[in-house]
Amino acid sequence: MSASYNPVIRIVPNSESVDHYAAEMVISQIRTKPDSVISLPTGSTPENLYNLLVLAHKNDDLDFSKVTIFNLDEYWPISKNHPSSYAYYMRKHLVDHININSTNWYIPNGEAPDAQAESERFEAVLQQFTPDLTILGIGPGTTCHIGFNEKGSTIDSTTRYVALDPQTRSANSKFFQNPTDTPTGAITQGIADILRAKKILLIAKGEGKAWGIHRTINGEIGATAPSSYLRCHPAVTIMLDQAAAHLL
Ligand code: PGA
Repeated sequence: MSASYNPVIRIVPNSESVDHYAAEMVISQIRTKPDSVISLPTGSTPENLYNLLVLAHKNDDLDFSKVTIFNLDEYWPISKNHPSSYAYYMRKHLVDHININSTNWYIPNGEAPDAQAESERFEAVLQQFTPDLTILGIGPGTTCHIGFNEKGSTIDSTTRYVALDPQTRSANSKFFQNPTDTPTGAITQGIADILRAKKILLIAKGEGKAWGIHRTINGEIGATAPSSYLRCHPAVTIMLDQAAAHLL
């Protein structure tokens, strides 16, 4: 196991404060280094963060023209135009509202016929960059997933197809009109990819994340809680609202 470090833990009063501080971190990253490479999550947690970034672009000229974005994951298989695909999510919440160059936005292709070939393609592109900042959510319940690295993920894992944990499928079924349509698998950046970032920010809100946050910070580092690998990285901030922090 690599050396372990203590992440910086910031507990803020409520979920809006999480959004606010996370947005400040991204904005300051882009202002300091306009050609920043940033890995981004999807899901309900970062939705308002993206609203704030769009506002910063529209009202304060935050310039994304030289920024590169990598998404952490995408369901597979799924159409890019499916309203619950992460490609659609990103266009709806961020990409269509900022001045990013479309060739600087990378997301695994949920329509690719072969998940392994697509994972290798995405990994090869990602390897050409070093993310300056990677933002993460954390999975529901006891999953402790980051990206879609479910239990069993190893520290040296790279982009690959993964089967989704039943808790993940159950939590994400709210995004699908018919819950049985929730995909059973996804393509995700691996743990090694995530740990290559210069800085990492994990954001978590609400009671449903409290057990996972406690396990991430206080449990053994290893594949039974993939988020615990973050303690092998020297520059991690974990930003929590009171509810997500209540077991600490
Ligand atoms: P959520 O998902 O933001 O919808 O809770 C987070 C995750 O599964 O990583």
